[in-house]
Amino acid sequence: MKHLWGRKPLAELEAEALESEKGLKRTLGAGSLVALGVGAIIGAGLFVRTAAAAANTAGPSVTFGFIVAAIGCAFAGLCYAELASMLPIAGSAYTYTYATMGELIAWIIGWDLTLEYALGAATVAIAWSEYLNKLLNIFGMGIPYALCHSPFEVDPITGAHGMINLPALGILVVLTVLLVRGIQESALVNTLIVIVKLVIVLLIIGLGWRFIDPANHTPYIPPPGEYTDKQGVTHAFGGPMGILGAAGIVFFAFIGFDAVSTAAQEAKNPRRDMPIGILGSLAVCTVLYVLFAHVLTGLAPVEFFRTTGSEASVAQAIERAMPGYAWLSHLVTVAILGGFSSVILVMLMGQSRVFYSMSRDGLVPGMFSELHSRYRTPYKSNLLFLAFVGVFAAFVPGDIVGDMTSIGTLFAFILVSIGVWVMRVKEPQLPRPFRVPAVPLVSTLGALLCSAMIFGLGWPNWARLGAWLAIGLAIYFGYGIKRSKLRGAT
Ligand code: ALA
Repeated sequence: MKHLWGRKPLAELEAEALESEKGLKRTLGAGSLVALGVGAIIGAGLFVRTAAAAANTAGPSVTFGFIVAAIGCAFAGLCYAELASMLPIAGSAYTYTYATMGELIAWIIGWDLTLEYALGAATVAIAWSEYLNKLLNIFGMGIPYALCHSPFEVDPITGAHGMINLPALGILVVLTVLLVRGIQESALVNTLIVIVKLVIVLLIIGLGWRFIDPANHTPYIPPPGEYTDKQGVTHAFGGPMGILGAAGIVFFAFIGFDAVSTAAQEAKNPRRDMPIGILGSLAVCTVLYVLFAHVLTGLAPVEFFRTTGSEASVAQAIERAMPGYAWLSHLVTVAILGGFSSVILVMLMGQSRVFYSMSRDGLVPGMFSELHSRYRTPYKSNLLFLAFVGVFAAFVPGDIVGDMTSIGTLFAFILVSIGVWVMRVKEPQLPRPFRVPAVPLVSTLGALLCSAMIFGLGWPNWARLGAWLAIGLAIYFGYGIKRSKLRGAT
């Protein structure tokens, strides 16, 4: 039993880091860290899940949901940064946990990150498909409902049934091919995408503000009740539970700020810059998100986001409520298609990196770390994940994969929050370039708020998370525990 808690020796991690990394230089200041975070954060969460949360759980009070989610992220994010700063290498939560909290927890986190990255990629691919259809509509074309929706979806207006989401699958295939061939997003492209995303969000807030119809904001917090969505799922709607449910849904929009903590080794002054990077990018995004959600829900009534505006919601709402701004709707559509592709790419890459590390450690089969002879990429891993992510993107509704992404990430945050506290007690002497202030208060609040959001996501999502973890533990005890390199097995 003892080896369940076996930790990967630091020296080994350092050797691996030296071998695989370019010797990261400490070049990032607080400003660059904030930009990095904002770039990684804004995506389908804002442009698709905001309307879903307004429609299904909170109406205009989705803005409060954003605030709750942001506070949870801030607490958990600080804990994440402490863990990241304890190791002198770059990596994912999986790597940090393996060296600090041992193999079992590392496995759970690694398995959970798969939910975050793989299903996150599927969610954004499904959102991409909605906006592709919107783009085609501009030219008087469109994809038949059956070919761009999962079999579990029904058009709320025409009653048509979905069959397979081909565009979502298509974008995954294209991006996987690029990944296998070893594409790296250049710093220039990344900066351009960050700027475009920010400009779009600011334009919508700035130009849309005067089109807010106060009737759409009345009541701002709907009275507590229930709403059954088009998939037949009943959600708590309105009141405090509606806000908590919305927080769980829009939590998706904050996923990615952990990118800041993975840059801990590149920060010039981690002790000062990490909290500024994490809290700063969260603060910038929260302000933008709240204003954006306020404008979006002011442009159209909740009923609109349940029907005509249930897809490509932002572009649809602009067209409905902002006469003369068709250009903005078109601009948003095109920018979103580009911006989402980069989010999907980063998620697919993150996924294969986590499995690459797990495979090197012997916890998943060796094929996940086999490199292509010419491209030097983990192509088998990329292709297997294409099949896995593709099934979800093609056959499962975006609401379901989106909420599964949220719940998986929330669970990882809880483990990280608790873990930081446990490590403080068990290993107080380990050097920590960045220390979370007021532990255990901050870590406890982080774990509690993330648990509250999990609670808000409702029992179907708890059941899905439970099933996912059960499968993961079965694989670990059936395979990983015997093959783990840490234990000297081959
Ligand atoms: N935060 C990212 C998004 O909203 C994952 O797309």
